[in-house]
Amino acid sequence: MKRIGMLTSGGDCQALNAAMRGVVKTLANSDEKVEIYGFLDGYKGLIYSKFCMLTSSDFSGILTKGGTILGTSRTPFKTIREPDENGLDKVEAMKQTYYKLQLDCLVILGGNGTHKTANLLRQEGLNVVTLPKTIDNDLWGTDMTFGFQSAVNIATDAIDCIHTTAASHGRVFIVEVMGHKVGWLTLNAGMASGADIILIPEIPYDIEKVVDKIEERDKNGSRFTIIAVAEGAISKQDAKLSKKDYKKKKEDSPYPSVSYEVAAEIQERTGREVRVTVPGHMQRGGSPCPYDRVFASRLGSEAGKMILDGKYGFMVGYKNREIVRVPLEDVAGKLKTVDPDATIVKEAKLLGICFGD
Ligand code: F6P
Repeated sequence: MKRIGMLTSGGDCQALNAAMRGVVKTLANSDEKVEIYGFLDGYKGLIYSKFCMLTSSDFSGILTKGGTILGTSRTPFKTIREPDENGLDKVEAMKQTYYKLQLDCLVILGGNGTHKTANLLRQEGLNVVTLPKTIDNDLWGTDMTFGFQSAVNIATDAIDCIHTTAASHGRVFIVEVMGHKVGWLTLNAGMASGADIILIPEIPYDIEKVVDKIEERDKNGSRFTIIAVAEGAISKQDAKLSKKDYKKKKEDSPYPSVSYEVAAEIQERTGREVRVTVPGHMQRGGSPCPYDRVFASRLGSEAGKMILDGKYGFMVGYKNREIVRVPLEDVAGKLKTVDPDATIVKEAKLLGICFGD
């Protein structure tokens, strides 16, 4: 008999349900008897012992369903050691829930912050297996996270739609793409949709270079320009600021996000009409794409296998087209960013895409 606790933490994304279904189906198809405790709303469920008992039938019919059947929330790692408003020690509370329910392991689905806490629980002696979710694709130790491809599809569709209206009106259009501090989503959606300019955090931009590209397109007879801007994009000047000064600058900025600042600067320098579109949380929503359904199912299945083998302390990842087990201590606290010298960036530049550098 295995007693498994399962939770989804952090921002949701597509294929969370598909991944959990993969774990549970693998366990259900084994000879092992299994009890599943689904913790509600992420680590909060584990801290405050809010859970429901689930059977394999609860995981039927959810392969294509977006969101997470367990609910999720953000429980920041940086305050995990601080007592809650009632003085409760959150880490001790999670351990108590685990031991009280006599769990054999926790299956934790999450991104960067989630992995830091998962690793902490491992260090505290709990058995943990994790699965890499996030539309940002910024988790260390895996070439791909589930949710990413679905979000690329949505962001691409958004830019595709903008393309036709930009062409009709002869405007400069900016589409702001999610991705937190990294540019994977913007780079891929930008390339997939034929964006002319792609601005990502890893390659700080010079606004003059952006303007040059727009003017070059004008001269060549292109009536419009499409710019894919990562929400974390940063100018060369701002990249020189200390973290503190940059934070202050953003707080004092009249613009709701970097895209509006880029738009205002282009408008001022070129006199062109510029429009900004922000697809926002749409990028995390809806049904997972077929790639993510298969990918998350494979990762989930490997997690199920690990539980059956009693192998804990790993994230199930994907490296060089293979499903792999990555030690949690190697994953926690590290960000996977786009290498500005990566071949994909060089290829994009050969295609004529401007990165503003
Ligand atoms: O990590 C996923 C993500 O969608 C990021 O791309 C984005 O910066 C952030 O979450 C938004 O967070 P929230 O849903 O808390 O607004």
